[in-house]
Amino acid sequence: MLQPPRSQENDKILMDALIALQTRVSAPRVKAPAPDRQTLEQIFKAAFRTADHGLLKPWRFLVIQGQSLQRFADLFAAAVLADKPDSTETDISSIRNKALRAPLVVVGIACPKAAPKVPESEQLLSAGGALQNMLTAAFALGVGAIWRTGPMATHPVVMQGLGLQPGESIIGFVYMGTVDGTLRPLVDEPVDAHVQDW
Ligand SMILES: Cc1cc2nc3c(=O)[nH]c(=O)nc-3n(C[C@H](O)[C@H](O)[C@H](O)COP(=O)(O)O)c2cc1C
Repeated sequence: MLQPPRSQENDKILMDALIALQTRVSAPRVKAPAPDRQTLEQIFKAAFRTADHGLLKPWRFLVIQGQSLQRFADLFAAAVLADKPDSTETDISSIRNKALRAPLVVVGIACPKAAPKVPESEQLLSAGGALQNMLTAAFALGVGAIWRTGPMATHPVVMQGLGLQPGESIIGFVYMGTVDGTLRPLVDEPVDAHVQDW
Protein backbone atom coordinates (compact mmCIF):
# COMPACT_ATOMS: atom_id res chain seq x y z
CA MET A 1 0.00 0.00 0.00
CA LEU A 2 1.25 3.52 -0.77
CA GLN A 3 2.08 5.55 2.34
CA PRO A 4 3.03 9.25 2.44
CA PRO A 5 6.82 9.56 2.83
CA ARG A 6 7.94 10.00 6.44
CA SER A 7 11.74 9.59 6.47
CA GLN A 8 14.21 12.40 7.12
CA GLU A 9 15.12 12.42 3.47
CA ASN A 10 11.50 12.38 2.44
CA ASP A 11 10.62 15.25 4.78
CA LYS A 12 12.69 17.29 2.39
CA ILE A 13 10.57 15.95 -0.48
CA LEU A 14 7.43 17.11 1.33
CA MET A 15 8.94 20.59 1.75
CA ASP A 16 9.77 20.63 -1.97
CA ALA A 17 6.13 19.89 -2.70
CA LEU A 18 5.08 22.98 -0.76
CA ILE A 19 7.59 25.12 -2.59
CA ALA A 20 6.31 23.81 -5.92
CA LEU A 21 2.70 24.51 -4.92
CA GLN A 22 3.52 28.05 -3.82
CA THR A 23 5.82 29.08 -6.65
CA ARG A 24 4.55 27.27 -9.76
CA VAL A 25 4.30 29.40 -12.88
CA SER A 26 3.31 28.52 -16.40
CA ALA A 27 5.83 28.33 -19.21
CA PRO A 28 4.20 30.12 -22.16
CA ARG A 29 7.06 29.07 -24.46
CA VAL A 30 8.52 25.57 -24.47
CA LYS A 31 10.84 23.72 -26.81
CA ALA A 32 12.22 20.20 -27.36
CA PRO A 33 13.04 17.91 -25.71
CA ALA A 34 9.71 16.77 -24.36
CA PRO A 35 9.62 15.14 -20.93
CA ASP A 36 10.63 11.49 -21.19
CA ARG A 37 8.25 8.61 -20.46
CA GLN A 38 9.41 8.21 -16.87
CA THR A 39 8.96 11.92 -16.09
CA LEU A 40 5.57 11.87 -17.76
CA GLU A 41 4.51 8.92 -15.61
CA GLN A 42 5.37 10.90 -12.47
CA ILE A 43 3.28 13.79 -13.77
CA PHE A 44 0.28 11.53 -14.46
CA LYS A 45 0.54 9.88 -11.05
CA ALA A 46 0.23 13.37 -9.54
CA ALA A 47 -2.80 14.04 -11.76
CA PHE A 48 -4.54 10.90 -10.54
CA ARG A 49 -4.35 12.16 -6.94
CA THR A 50 -6.88 14.91 -7.52
CA ALA A 51 -9.82 14.91 -5.11
CA ASP A 52 -12.49 12.66 -6.58
CA HIS A 53 -15.96 12.39 -5.03
CA GLY A 54 -17.07 8.77 -5.33
CA LEU A 55 -13.69 7.74 -6.78
CA LEU A 56 -15.23 7.92 -10.23
CA LYS A 57 -12.04 8.92 -12.07
CA PRO A 58 -13.99 11.24 -14.35
CA TRP A 59 -11.01 12.08 -16.56
CA ARG A 60 -8.73 10.65 -19.18
CA PHE A 61 -5.73 11.99 -21.06
CA LEU A 62 -4.26 11.79 -24.54
CA VAL A 63 -0.53 12.26 -25.09
CA ILE A 64 0.37 13.80 -28.44
CA GLN A 65 4.00 13.93 -29.50
CA GLY A 66 6.30 13.06 -32.41
CA GLN A 67 4.48 12.34 -35.66
CA SER A 68 1.09 12.72 -33.97
CA LEU A 69 1.70 16.45 -33.57
CA GLN A 70 1.28 16.89 -37.32
CA ARG A 71 -2.09 15.12 -37.19
CA PHE A 72 -3.03 17.35 -34.25
CA ALA A 73 -2.12 20.42 -36.33
CA ASP A 74 -4.15 18.99 -39.24
CA LEU A 75 -7.17 18.83 -36.93
CA PHE A 76 -6.80 22.48 -35.92
CA ALA A 77 -6.50 23.43 -39.58
CA ALA A 78 -9.58 21.36 -40.50
CA ALA A 79 -11.54 23.08 -37.72
CA VAL A 80 -10.65 26.54 -39.01
CA LEU A 81 -11.47 25.52 -42.59
CA ALA A 82 -14.83 24.09 -41.49
CA ASP A 83 -15.74 27.48 -40.01
CA LYS A 84 -14.23 29.55 -42.78
CA PRO A 85 -13.64 27.67 -46.03
CA ASP A 86 -11.95 30.72 -47.58
CA SER A 87 -9.28 30.90 -44.84
CA THR A 88 -5.96 32.19 -46.10
CA GLU A 89 -2.72 30.24 -45.94
CA THR A 90 -1.65 32.64 -43.20
CA ASP A 91 -4.74 31.74 -41.14
CA ILE A 92 -4.03 28.04 -41.60
CA SER A 93 -0.35 28.23 -40.77
CA SER A 94 -1.12 30.39 -37.73
CA ILE A 95 -3.52 27.82 -36.26
CA ARG A 96 -1.18 24.93 -37.17
CA ASN A 97 1.64 26.68 -35.32
CA LYS A 98 -0.52 26.83 -32.21
CA ALA A 99 -0.83 23.06 -32.25
CA LEU A 100 2.90 22.71 -32.83
CA ARG A 101 4.09 25.12 -30.15
CA ALA A 102 5.30 22.36 -27.83
CA PRO A 103 7.02 19.01 -28.35
CA LEU A 104 4.29 17.31 -26.31
CA VAL A 105 0.63 18.06 -25.66
CA VAL A 106 -1.54 16.39 -23.06
CA VAL A 107 -5.24 16.65 -23.86
CA GLY A 108 -7.22 16.65 -20.62
CA ILE A 109 -10.67 15.14 -21.09
CA ALA A 110 -13.45 15.21 -18.53
CA CYS A 111 -15.62 12.11 -18.73
CA PRO A 112 -18.40 12.44 -16.17
CA LYS A 113 -19.93 9.17 -15.02
CA ALA A 114 -23.56 8.48 -14.14
CA ALA A 115 -23.54 8.81 -10.34
CA PRO A 116 -26.65 9.91 -8.48
CA LYS A 117 -24.70 11.47 -5.58
CA VAL A 118 -21.99 13.19 -7.61
CA PRO A 119 -23.17 15.99 -9.89
CA GLU A 120 -21.40 16.54 -13.17
CA SER A 121 -20.09 19.90 -11.94
CA GLU A 122 -18.14 18.12 -9.18
CA GLN A 123 -16.71 15.68 -11.66
CA LEU A 124 -15.54 18.56 -13.86
CA LEU A 125 -13.87 20.14 -10.84
CA SER A 126 -12.12 16.85 -10.13
CA ALA A 127 -10.86 16.67 -13.71
CA GLY A 128 -9.67 20.29 -13.42
CA GLY A 129 -7.83 19.38 -10.25
CA ALA A 130 -6.09 16.59 -12.12
CA LEU A 131 -4.78 19.05 -14.68
CA GLN A 132 -3.67 21.45 -11.95
CA ASN A 133 -1.80 18.63 -10.17
CA MET A 134 -0.17 17.87 -13.49
CA LEU A 135 1.06 21.47 -13.83
CA THR A 136 2.48 21.48 -10.31
CA ALA A 137 4.21 18.14 -10.76
CA ALA A 138 5.66 19.28 -14.08
CA PHE A 139 6.98 22.43 -12.44
CA ALA A 140 8.51 20.43 -9.58
CA LEU A 141 10.24 18.19 -12.12
CA GLY A 142 11.59 21.14 -14.12
CA VAL A 143 9.25 20.60 -17.05
CA GLY A 144 7.75 23.71 -18.67
CA ALA A 145 3.97 23.49 -18.97
CA ILE A 146 0.97 25.68 -19.67
CA TRP A 147 -2.75 24.92 -19.62
CA ARG A 148 -4.55 26.34 -22.64
CA THR A 149 -8.03 26.01 -24.09
CA GLY A 150 -9.33 28.48 -26.70
CA PRO A 151 -11.85 27.78 -29.47
CA MET A 152 -10.13 24.53 -30.53
CA ALA A 153 -11.02 22.91 -27.20
CA THR A 154 -14.74 23.08 -27.94
CA HIS A 155 -14.64 22.72 -31.70
CA PRO A 156 -16.62 19.69 -32.92
CA VAL A 157 -14.02 18.86 -35.59
CA VAL A 158 -11.27 18.71 -32.97
CA MET A 159 -13.43 16.84 -30.47
CA GLN A 160 -14.43 14.24 -33.04
CA GLY A 161 -10.90 13.93 -34.40
CA LEU A 162 -9.56 13.27 -30.91
CA GLY A 163 -12.19 10.61 -30.35
CA LEU A 164 -14.33 12.26 -27.70
CA GLN A 165 -17.42 10.30 -26.70
CA PRO A 166 -20.84 11.81 -25.97
CA GLY A 167 -20.78 13.64 -22.62
CA GLU A 168 -17.01 14.11 -22.70
CA SER A 169 -15.33 17.50 -22.99
CA ILE A 170 -11.83 18.80 -23.49
CA ILE A 171 -10.93 20.75 -20.37
CA GLY A 172 -7.48 21.72 -21.53
CA PHE A 173 -4.48 21.25 -23.71
CA VAL A 174 -1.38 21.13 -21.52
CA TYR A 175 1.58 22.12 -23.67
CA MET A 176 4.78 20.68 -22.21
CA GLY A 177 8.47 20.79 -22.96
CA THR A 178 11.72 22.40 -21.96
CA VAL A 179 11.30 25.97 -20.72
CA ASP A 180 12.25 28.43 -23.46
CA GLY A 181 13.25 31.83 -22.06
CA THR A 182 12.65 33.05 -18.56
CA LEU A 183 9.64 32.35 -16.41
CA ARG A 184 7.42 35.15 -15.13
CA PRO A 185 8.61 36.46 -11.76
CA LEU A 186 6.02 35.97 -9.04
CA VAL A 187 4.41 38.82 -7.16
CA ASP A 188 3.82 37.95 -3.52
CA GLU A 189 0.07 37.56 -2.88
CA PRO A 190 -0.87 38.78 0.57
CA VAL A 191 -3.09 36.10 2.08
CA ASP A 192 -5.44 38.72 3.57
CA ALA A 193 -6.33 39.97 0.09
CA HIS A 194 -8.28 36.80 -0.64
CA VAL A 195 -9.08 35.28 2.73
CA GLN A 196 -11.35 36.53 5.47
CA ASP A 197 -12.19 35.20 8.88
CA TRP A 198 -15.92 34.64 9.20
C1 LIG B 1 -9.26 26.29 -17.77
C2 LIG B 1 -8.12 27.19 -18.15
C3 LIG B 1 -7.95 27.55 -19.46
C4 LIG B 1 -6.92 28.40 -19.85
N1 LIG B 1 -6.77 28.72 -21.17
C5 LIG B 1 -5.76 29.53 -21.55
C6 LIG B 1 -5.56 29.84 -22.92
O1 LIG B 1 -6.27 29.37 -23.80
N2 LIG B 1 -4.54 30.67 -23.23
C7 LIG B 1 -3.72 31.21 -22.26
O2 LIG B 1 -2.82 31.97 -22.61
N3 LIG B 1 -3.88 30.90 -20.96
C8 LIG B 1 -4.87 30.09 -20.58
N4 LIG B 1 -5.03 29.77 -19.26
C9 LIG B 1 -4.17 30.44 -18.24
C10 LIG B 1 -2.77 29.90 -18.18
O3 LIG B 1 -2.78 28.49 -18.10
C11 LIG B 1 -2.02 30.46 -16.96
O4 LIG B 1 -2.55 29.93 -15.77
C12 LIG B 1 -2.05 31.97 -16.88
O5 LIG B 1 -1.39 32.50 -18.00
C13 LIG B 1 -1.39 32.51 -15.60
O6 LIG B 1 -0.06 32.07 -15.52
P1 LIG B 1 0.47 31.26 -14.26
O7 LIG B 1 -0.15 29.88 -14.36
O8 LIG B 1 1.94 31.28 -14.43
O9 LIG B 1 0.02 31.98 -13.03
C14 LIG B 1 -6.02 28.90 -18.86
C15 LIG B 1 -6.18 28.49 -17.53
C16 LIG B 1 -7.21 27.64 -17.18
C17 LIG B 1 -7.35 27.21 -15.73
